[in-house]
Amino acid sequence: MKIPRFTLEHWMRRYEAAPPRHSLAGSAGPCWTVGEVLALGGVDPDEVMTTPILYAPFEGSTELRTEVANYVGVQPEDVLITTGASEAIAILIASHAEANGNVVVPSPGYPSFAGLTQVFGMEPREYRLRREDGFAIDPDRVLSNVDPGTRAVIVNSPHNPTGSLASREALLALAAALNDRGVTLIVDRVFHSPGDDAEPWGLDELPGAIPIGDMSKALSLPGLRVGWIADRDVARRGPYLDLRGYFTLSNAPLAERLATIALQHRGRVLARRDSVARTNLSALALVIDRHPAVDWVRPRGGATSFPWLTSGRDARPFCERLAEAGVLTVPGDCLGYPDHFRVGFADNEPAAFADAMEVLAEALSREDDQAAA
Ligand SMILES: Cc1ncc(COP(=O)(O)O)c(C=O)c1O
Repeated sequence: MKIPRFTLEHWMRRYEAAPPRHSLAGSAGPCWTVGEVLALGGVDPDEVMTTPILYAPFEGSTELRTEVANYVGVQPEDVLITTGASEAIAILIASHAEANGNVVVPSPGYPSFAGLTQVFGMEPREYRLRREDGFAIDPDRVLSNVDPGTRAVIVNSPHNPTGSLASREALLALAAALNDRGVTLIVDRVFHSPGDDAEPWGLDELPGAIPIGDMSKALSLPGLRVGWIADRDVARRGPYLDLRGYFTLSNAPLAERLATIALQHRGRVLARRDSVARTNLSALALVIDRHPAVDWVRPRGGATSFPWLTSGRDARPFCERLAEAGVLTVPGDCLGYPDHFRVGFADNEPAAFADAMEVLAEALSREDDQAAA
Protein backbone atom coordinates (compact mmCIF):
# COMPACT_ATOMS: atom_id res chain seq x y z
CA MET A 1 0.00 0.00 0.00
CA LYS A 2 1.20 3.50 -0.80
CA ILE A 3 1.13 5.58 2.40
CA PRO A 4 -0.20 9.11 1.70
CA ARG A 5 2.46 11.71 2.44
CA PHE A 6 1.87 13.79 5.60
CA THR A 7 3.12 16.93 3.86
CA LEU A 8 2.34 19.23 6.80
CA GLU A 9 4.70 17.39 9.15
CA HIS A 10 7.42 17.21 6.48
CA TRP A 11 7.27 21.01 6.15
CA MET A 12 7.58 21.44 9.95
CA ARG A 13 10.51 18.98 10.08
CA ARG A 14 12.40 20.95 7.50
CA TYR A 15 12.71 23.83 10.01
CA GLU A 16 13.23 21.79 13.19
CA ALA A 17 17.05 21.95 13.21
CA ALA A 18 17.22 25.72 12.68
CA PRO A 19 13.82 27.16 13.62
CA PRO A 20 12.90 30.67 12.48
CA ARG A 21 12.62 33.26 15.29
CA HIS A 22 8.84 32.92 15.45
CA SER A 23 6.65 29.94 14.66
CA LEU A 24 3.07 30.60 13.62
CA ALA A 25 2.97 27.12 12.11
CA GLY A 26 1.42 25.41 15.12
CA SER A 27 -2.17 25.22 16.27
CA ALA A 28 -1.90 24.66 20.03
CA GLY A 29 -2.35 27.27 22.75
CA PRO A 30 0.33 29.08 24.79
CA CYS A 31 3.03 26.85 26.26
CA TRP A 32 2.89 25.57 29.86
CA THR A 33 5.73 23.94 31.80
CA VAL A 34 5.40 20.94 34.12
CA GLY A 35 6.06 23.23 37.09
CA GLU A 36 3.30 25.63 36.03
CA VAL A 37 0.75 22.82 35.70
CA LEU A 38 1.69 21.47 39.16
CA ALA A 39 1.41 24.99 40.59
CA LEU A 40 -2.08 25.32 39.07
CA GLY A 41 -3.20 22.43 41.25
CA GLY A 42 -1.04 23.37 44.26
CA VAL A 43 0.63 19.96 43.85
CA ASP A 44 3.95 19.39 45.61
CA PRO A 45 6.54 18.33 42.96
CA ASP A 46 7.82 15.72 45.43
CA GLU A 47 4.46 14.01 45.27
CA VAL A 48 4.74 13.67 41.48
CA MET A 49 8.21 12.16 41.94
CA THR A 50 6.54 9.09 43.45
CA THR A 51 4.47 8.40 40.29
CA PRO A 52 5.25 4.80 39.30
CA ILE A 53 6.61 4.49 35.78
CA LEU A 54 4.29 1.66 34.80
CA TYR A 55 1.68 1.32 32.06
CA ALA A 56 -1.34 3.49 32.82
CA PRO A 57 -4.64 1.55 32.78
CA PHE A 58 -5.56 0.49 29.26
CA GLU A 59 -8.56 2.89 28.99
CA GLY A 60 -6.92 5.65 31.06
CA SER A 61 -6.90 6.30 34.81
CA THR A 62 -10.25 6.57 36.57
CA GLU A 63 -9.34 10.09 37.71
CA LEU A 64 -8.58 11.29 34.18
CA ARG A 65 -11.65 9.63 32.65
CA THR A 66 -13.80 11.26 35.33
CA GLU A 67 -12.36 14.72 34.58
CA VAL A 68 -12.79 14.25 30.82
CA ALA A 69 -16.37 13.04 31.37
CA ASN A 70 -17.15 16.18 33.44
CA TYR A 71 -15.60 18.36 30.77
CA VAL A 72 -17.38 16.72 27.83
CA GLY A 73 -20.70 16.04 29.59
CA VAL A 74 -20.75 12.22 29.43
CA GLN A 75 -20.20 9.38 31.94
CA PRO A 76 -16.66 8.19 32.82
CA GLU A 77 -17.40 4.74 31.32
CA ASP A 78 -18.09 6.45 27.95
CA VAL A 79 -14.53 7.81 27.84
CA LEU A 80 -11.53 6.06 26.31
CA ILE A 81 -8.24 7.90 26.80
CA THR A 82 -6.00 7.80 23.70
CA THR A 83 -2.55 8.97 22.66
CA GLY A 84 -3.67 12.36 21.41
CA ALA A 85 -6.72 12.87 19.22
CA SER A 86 -4.48 11.34 16.54
CA GLU A 87 -5.01 7.90 18.03
CA ALA A 88 -8.71 8.64 18.57
CA ILE A 89 -9.06 9.30 14.82
CA ALA A 90 -7.10 6.14 13.99
CA ILE A 91 -9.22 3.98 16.32
CA LEU A 92 -12.50 5.36 15.00
CA ILE A 93 -11.57 5.00 11.34
CA ALA A 94 -10.14 1.50 11.87
CA SER A 95 -13.21 0.37 13.80
CA HIS A 96 -15.44 1.57 10.96
CA ALA A 97 -13.29 0.12 8.17
CA GLU A 98 -14.99 -2.13 5.65
CA ALA A 99 -14.08 -3.32 2.14
CA ASN A 100 -15.34 -0.77 -0.42
CA GLY A 101 -16.28 1.61 2.40
CA ASN A 102 -15.81 5.35 2.37
CA VAL A 103 -15.46 8.12 4.95
CA VAL A 104 -16.66 11.65 4.21
CA VAL A 105 -14.13 14.26 5.34
CA PRO A 106 -13.76 18.05 5.18
CA SER A 107 -11.59 19.77 2.55
CA PRO A 108 -9.52 21.63 3.50
CA GLY A 109 -9.08 19.51 6.58
CA TYR A 110 -6.65 17.96 9.04
CA PRO A 111 -4.64 15.45 6.94
CA SER A 112 -5.26 12.44 9.23
CA PHE A 113 -8.94 12.28 8.29
CA ALA A 114 -8.33 11.45 4.64
CA GLY A 115 -4.88 9.87 5.14
CA LEU A 116 -5.99 7.30 7.72
CA THR A 117 -9.14 6.51 5.73
CA GLN A 118 -6.81 5.47 2.90
CA VAL A 119 -4.46 3.62 5.24
CA PHE A 120 -7.39 1.52 6.47
CA GLY A 121 -8.35 0.65 2.91
CA MET A 122 -11.28 2.99 2.37
CA GLU A 123 -12.03 5.88 0.05
CA PRO A 124 -11.91 9.40 1.51
CA ARG A 125 -14.68 11.54 0.01
CA GLU A 126 -14.17 15.23 0.48
CA TYR A 127 -16.84 17.83 1.09
CA ARG A 128 -15.63 21.32 0.25
CA LEU A 129 -15.67 24.18 2.71
CA ARG A 130 -15.63 27.06 0.23
CA ARG A 131 -14.10 30.42 0.99
CA GLU A 132 -16.98 32.12 -0.86
CA ASP A 133 -19.31 30.56 1.77
CA GLY A 134 -17.09 31.68 4.65
CA PHE A 135 -15.86 28.05 4.90
CA ALA A 136 -19.27 27.11 6.32
CA ILE A 137 -20.51 23.51 6.34
CA ASP A 138 -23.34 22.91 3.90
CA PRO A 139 -25.17 19.73 5.08
CA ASP A 140 -26.49 19.04 1.55
CA ARG A 141 -22.97 19.11 0.14
CA VAL A 142 -21.83 16.68 2.86
CA LEU A 143 -24.81 14.38 2.29
CA SER A 144 -24.32 14.34 -1.48
CA ASN A 145 -21.20 12.22 -0.77
CA VAL A 146 -23.01 9.74 1.44
CA ASP A 147 -24.07 6.40 -0.07
CA PRO A 148 -24.60 2.86 1.25
CA GLY A 149 -20.80 2.43 1.47
CA THR A 150 -20.36 5.41 3.79
CA ARG A 151 -19.07 4.30 7.18
CA ALA A 152 -18.63 7.68 8.85
CA VAL A 153 -18.70 11.44 8.33
CA ILE A 154 -16.17 13.68 10.08
CA VAL A 155 -16.90 17.25 11.12
CA ASN A 156 -14.21 19.43 12.68
CA SER A 157 -15.46 22.53 14.49
CA PRO A 158 -13.82 24.90 15.29
CA HIS A 159 -12.06 24.01 12.08
CA ASN A 160 -8.41 23.55 11.22
CA PRO A 161 -7.15 25.32 9.12
CA THR A 162 -9.88 27.93 8.53
CA GLY A 163 -11.14 28.72 12.07
CA SER A 164 -14.73 28.43 10.82
CA LEU A 165 -17.54 27.10 13.00
CA ALA A 166 -20.33 24.70 12.13
CA SER A 167 -23.69 26.40 12.63
CA ARG A 168 -26.35 24.91 14.87
CA GLU A 169 -28.75 24.45 11.92
CA ALA A 170 -26.11 22.73 9.79
CA LEU A 171 -24.92 20.35 12.47
CA LEU A 172 -28.36 19.38 13.73
CA ALA A 173 -29.60 18.77 10.18
CA LEU A 174 -26.54 16.69 9.38
CA ALA A 175 -26.72 14.66 12.61
CA ALA A 176 -30.42 13.87 12.05
CA ALA A 177 -29.92 12.85 8.40
CA LEU A 178 -26.94 10.63 9.24
CA ASN A 179 -28.75 9.05 12.16
CA ASP A 180 -31.65 8.15 9.83
CA ARG A 181 -29.20 6.49 7.46
CA GLY A 182 -27.27 4.68 10.20
CA VAL A 183 -24.02 6.53 9.39
CA THR A 184 -21.68 7.50 12.26
CA LEU A 185 -20.98 11.20 12.79
CA ILE A 186 -17.55 11.93 14.33
CA VAL A 187 -17.16 15.43 15.74
CA ASP A 188 -13.54 16.54 16.21
CA ARG A 189 -13.76 19.22 18.91
CA VAL A 190 -10.06 19.58 19.77
CA PHE A 191 -10.25 23.36 19.29
CA HIS A 192 -13.44 23.81 21.30
CA SER A 193 -13.10 26.17 24.24
CA PRO A 194 -16.35 26.38 26.24
CA GLY A 195 -15.90 30.11 26.83
CA ASP A 196 -15.94 31.12 23.16
CA ASP A 197 -19.56 30.21 22.33
CA ALA A 198 -18.32 28.17 19.40
CA GLU A 199 -20.79 25.32 19.94
CA PRO A 200 -24.38 26.50 19.85
CA TRP A 201 -25.64 22.93 20.28
CA GLY A 202 -25.63 20.29 23.00
CA LEU A 203 -24.17 16.82 22.53
CA ASP A 204 -27.58 15.36 23.36
CA GLU A 205 -28.96 17.08 20.26
CA LEU A 206 -26.63 15.08 18.01
CA PRO A 207 -28.01 11.53 18.16
CA GLY A 208 -25.28 8.92 17.89
CA ALA A 209 -22.47 11.43 17.32
CA ILE A 210 -19.02 10.58 18.68
CA PRO A 211 -17.10 13.56 20.06
CA ILE A 212 -13.31 13.38 20.19
CA GLY A 213 -11.04 15.81 21.97
CA ASP A 214 -7.56 16.26 23.39
CA MET A 215 -5.29 18.13 25.79
CA SER A 216 -3.27 19.53 22.84
CA LYS A 217 -5.27 22.34 21.29
CA ALA A 218 -7.76 24.35 23.39
CA LEU A 219 -6.14 22.94 26.53
CA SER A 220 -2.68 23.90 25.24
CA LEU A 221 -0.68 20.85 26.44
CA PRO A 222 0.29 19.04 23.20
CA GLY A 223 3.35 17.37 24.74
CA LEU A 224 1.18 15.31 27.08
CA ARG A 225 -0.08 13.34 24.07
CA VAL A 226 -3.45 12.81 25.73
CA GLY A 227 -6.71 12.65 23.79
CA TRP A 228 -10.05 10.87 24.08
CA ILE A 229 -13.08 9.32 22.44
CA ALA A 230 -16.38 9.89 24.28
CA ASP A 231 -18.84 7.33 22.86
CA ARG A 232 -22.10 6.66 24.67
CA ASP A 233 -22.87 3.62 22.48
CA VAL A 234 -21.71 0.51 24.37
CA ALA A 235 -21.88 -1.83 21.35
CA ARG A 236 -19.77 0.49 19.21
CA ARG A 237 -17.17 0.86 21.99
CA GLY A 238 -16.28 -2.85 21.94
CA PRO A 239 -13.46 -2.80 19.37
CA TYR A 240 -11.91 0.47 20.57
CA LEU A 241 -10.01 -1.19 23.43
CA ASP A 242 -8.68 -3.91 21.14
CA LEU A 243 -7.46 -1.32 18.66
CA ARG A 244 -5.84 0.65 21.46
CA GLY A 245 -4.11 -2.56 22.48
CA TYR A 246 -2.68 -2.89 18.97
CA PHE A 247 -1.76 0.79 18.49
CA THR A 248 -0.30 2.18 21.72
CA LEU A 249 -1.49 0.03 24.67
CA SER A 250 -1.61 2.88 27.18
CA ASN A 251 -0.51 6.41 28.01
CA ALA A 252 2.29 7.49 30.36
CA PRO A 253 1.02 7.74 33.99
CA LEU A 254 2.84 11.06 34.47
CA ALA A 255 1.12 12.54 31.41
CA GLU A 256 -2.26 11.34 32.68
CA ARG A 257 -1.59 12.87 36.11
CA LEU A 258 -0.68 16.25 34.57
CA ALA A 259 -3.72 16.10 32.28
CA THR A 260 -5.95 15.40 35.30
CA ILE A 261 -4.56 18.43 37.17
CA ALA A 262 -4.94 20.69 34.11
CA LEU A 263 -8.56 19.56 33.59
CA GLN A 264 -9.37 20.16 37.26
CA HIS A 265 -8.17 23.75 36.72
CA ARG A 266 -9.30 24.08 33.11
CA GLY A 267 -10.97 27.43 33.71
CA ARG A 268 -7.55 29.08 34.06
CA VAL A 269 -5.95 27.09 31.26
CA LEU A 270 -8.72 27.94 28.80
CA ALA A 271 -8.96 31.58 29.89
CA ARG A 272 -5.25 32.09 29.19
CA ARG A 273 -5.57 30.52 25.75
CA ASP A 274 -8.72 32.44 24.86
CA SER A 275 -7.15 35.74 25.87
CA VAL A 276 -3.96 35.11 23.85
CA ALA A 277 -5.99 33.95 20.82
CA ARG A 278 -8.30 36.99 20.93
CA THR A 279 -5.47 39.51 21.24
CA ASN A 280 -3.38 37.90 18.52
CA LEU A 281 -6.29 37.50 16.12
CA SER A 282 -7.00 41.24 16.33
CA ALA A 283 -3.33 41.95 15.59
CA LEU A 284 -3.40 39.56 12.63
CA ALA A 285 -6.61 41.14 11.30
CA LEU A 286 -4.92 44.55 11.28
CA VAL A 287 -2.14 43.19 9.06
CA ILE A 288 -4.28 41.09 6.72
CA ASP A 289 -6.87 43.83 6.20
CA ARG A 290 -4.18 46.36 5.22
CA HIS A 291 -2.62 44.36 2.36
CA PRO A 292 -4.35 43.86 -1.00
CA ALA A 293 -1.96 40.98 -1.81
CA VAL A 294 -3.84 38.83 0.66
CA ASP A 295 -7.44 38.15 1.66
CA TRP A 296 -9.13 35.90 4.21
CA VAL A 297 -12.25 34.82 6.01
CA ARG A 298 -11.66 35.97 9.56
CA PRO A 299 -11.68 32.92 11.89
CA ARG A 300 -14.58 32.70 14.33
CA GLY A 301 -12.88 30.15 16.58
CA GLY A 302 -10.00 27.72 16.80
CA ALA A 303 -6.33 28.57 16.51
CA THR A 304 -5.57 28.95 12.81
CA SER A 305 -6.48 31.17 9.88
CA PHE A 306 -6.23 30.29 6.20
CA PRO A 307 -5.63 33.46 4.15
CA TRP A 308 -4.89 33.31 0.43
CA LEU A 309 -2.78 35.28 -2.03
CA THR A 310 -5.14 37.34 -4.17
CA SER A 311 -2.79 36.82 -7.13
CA GLY A 312 -3.77 33.13 -7.04
CA ARG A 313 -0.04 32.27 -7.00
CA ASP A 314 1.40 29.28 -5.14
CA ALA A 315 2.07 30.54 -1.59
CA ARG A 316 5.00 28.19 -0.91
CA PRO A 317 7.74 30.55 -2.19
CA PHE A 318 6.16 33.32 -0.09
CA CYS A 319 6.17 31.04 2.99
CA GLU A 320 9.81 30.13 2.33
CA ARG A 321 10.81 33.81 2.12
CA LEU A 322 8.81 34.54 5.26
CA ALA A 323 10.59 31.71 7.11
CA GLU A 324 13.94 33.13 6.03
CA ALA A 325 12.83 36.50 7.40
CA GLY A 326 12.05 34.82 10.75
CA VAL A 327 8.39 33.72 10.69
CA LEU A 328 7.29 30.16 10.04
CA THR A 329 3.78 29.61 8.63
CA VAL A 330 2.40 26.64 6.66
CA PRO A 331 2.07 26.69 2.86
CA GLY A 332 -1.45 25.80 1.78
CA ASP A 333 -0.23 23.02 -0.52
CA CYS A 334 0.32 20.98 2.69
CA LEU A 335 -3.48 21.04 2.97
CA GLY A 336 -4.31 20.82 -0.72
CA TYR A 337 -4.79 24.57 -1.37
CA PRO A 338 -1.57 26.01 -2.84
CA ASP A 339 -2.67 29.67 -3.03
CA HIS A 340 -3.43 29.69 0.72
CA PHE A 341 -1.16 29.67 3.77
CA ARG A 342 -1.96 28.84 7.39
CA VAL A 343 -1.21 31.23 10.23
CA GLY A 344 -1.61 30.03 13.83
CA PHE A 345 -2.55 32.73 16.31
CA ALA A 346 -3.09 31.02 19.68
CA ASP A 347 0.30 29.79 20.86
CA ASN A 348 2.59 32.85 20.92
CA GLU A 349 2.46 35.39 23.73
CA PRO A 350 1.09 38.67 22.30
CA ALA A 351 4.44 40.54 22.49
CA ALA A 352 6.18 37.88 20.39
CA PHE A 353 3.18 37.68 18.06
CA ALA A 354 3.30 41.46 17.52
CA ASP A 355 6.95 41.13 16.54
CA ALA A 356 6.04 38.39 14.06
CA MET A 357 3.28 40.62 12.65
CA GLU A 358 5.88 43.26 11.74
CA VAL A 359 7.79 40.68 9.72
CA LEU A 360 4.59 39.42 8.08
CA ALA A 361 3.51 42.98 7.22
CA GLU A 362 6.85 43.68 5.57
CA ALA A 363 6.66 40.49 3.50
CA LEU A 364 3.10 41.32 2.45
CA SER A 365 4.12 44.85 1.44
CA ARG A 366 6.59 43.28 -1.01
CA GLU A 367 3.77 41.08 -2.36
CA ASP A 368 1.57 44.21 -2.73
CA ASP A 369 4.35 45.93 -4.70
CA GLN A 370 4.85 42.91 -6.97
CA ALA A 371 1.12 42.71 -7.68
CA ALA A 372 0.99 46.44 -8.48
CA ALA A 373 4.06 46.32 -10.78
C1 LIG B 1 -8.40 18.92 13.87
C2 LIG B 1 -7.33 18.13 14.54
N1 LIG B 1 -7.64 16.94 15.07
C3 LIG B 1 -6.72 16.18 15.68
C4 LIG B 1 -5.40 16.60 15.77
C5 LIG B 1 -4.40 15.71 16.45
O1 LIG B 1 -3.91 16.30 17.62
P1 LIG B 1 -3.29 15.51 18.84
O2 LIG B 1 -2.88 14.17 18.39
O3 LIG B 1 -2.16 16.35 19.33
O4 LIG B 1 -4.37 15.43 19.88
C6 LIG B 1 -5.03 17.82 15.21
C7 LIG B 1 -3.63 18.29 15.26
O5 LIG B 1 -3.27 19.32 14.74
C8 LIG B 1 -6.03 18.62 14.59
O6 LIG B 1 -5.74 19.80 14.05
